[in-house]
Amino acid sequence: MLEYKKITEEHKEQLFALIDRVLSNIPDNHFIPYEQWELDSMFDEENYAPLYGAFDGDKLVGMAQLYVSQDMMAGFKKDFDLQEYSVCELGGNLVLPEYRGMGITTTLQKMELEIARERGFDYIISMAHPENPASCKTLERVGLKFYKTMEVAGGFLRNLYMLKLK
Ligand SMILES: CC(C)(COP(=O)(O)OP(=O)(O)OC[C@H]1O[C@@H](n2cnc3c(N)ncnc32)[C@H](O)[C@@H]1OP(=O)(O)O)[C@@H](O)C(=O)NCCC(=O)NCCS
Repeated sequence: MLEYKKITEEHKEQLFALIDRVLSNIPDNHFIPYEQWELDSMFDEENYAPLYGAFDGDKLVGMAQLYVSQDMMAGFKKDFDLQEYSVCELGGNLVLPEYRGMGITTTLQKMELEIARERGFDYIISMAHPENPASCKTLERVGLKFYKTMEVAGGFLRNLYMLKLK
């Protein structure tokens, strides 16, 4: 039975092991690499991103983030034509290969959506590589709507998804 809860400093080692393992086994262009400040801010849920995980017993097996930093969102807001709105982004969806297809990301994204609503954001956005069907599917399943496909900063091809929250 999986447990879904906040990932905290006490899980730091497991968190970075999960990130390393998943990112070293997917195509480079499927995940926009973390910047150093993001790795340093993993537990800053006010200024960077609420962070939730799926646990099998004590073992962290999946994670999801809600990027709330408006500095980070500035460029993406242009891509989505949402400059005048407060926007947050679903991201950091990483699940160990042997736990995929069990609904972990769908559950974690629903939790992050609830936080986005509680925090009063106007829109929630997300992006996925067009050839990452698992990622595209979870975003559509939690209610985000496909907007367009484009190359975002850094030359990453992405399907853009969004949902108006209020
Ligand atoms: C994307 C990812 C986070 C999804 O996590 P997950 O917990 O397996 O997601 P869920 O189980 O909630 O849903 C995945 C859905 O995609 C489906 N799926 C998986 N691979 C698929 C494929 N190749 N084609 C079509 N659908 C696929 C699953 O069957 C499932 O749908 P279902 O419940 O209707 O069967 C996970 O695959 C992962 O960690 N991938 C590597 C990292 C990554 O690419 N992250 C996203 C970066 S934007």
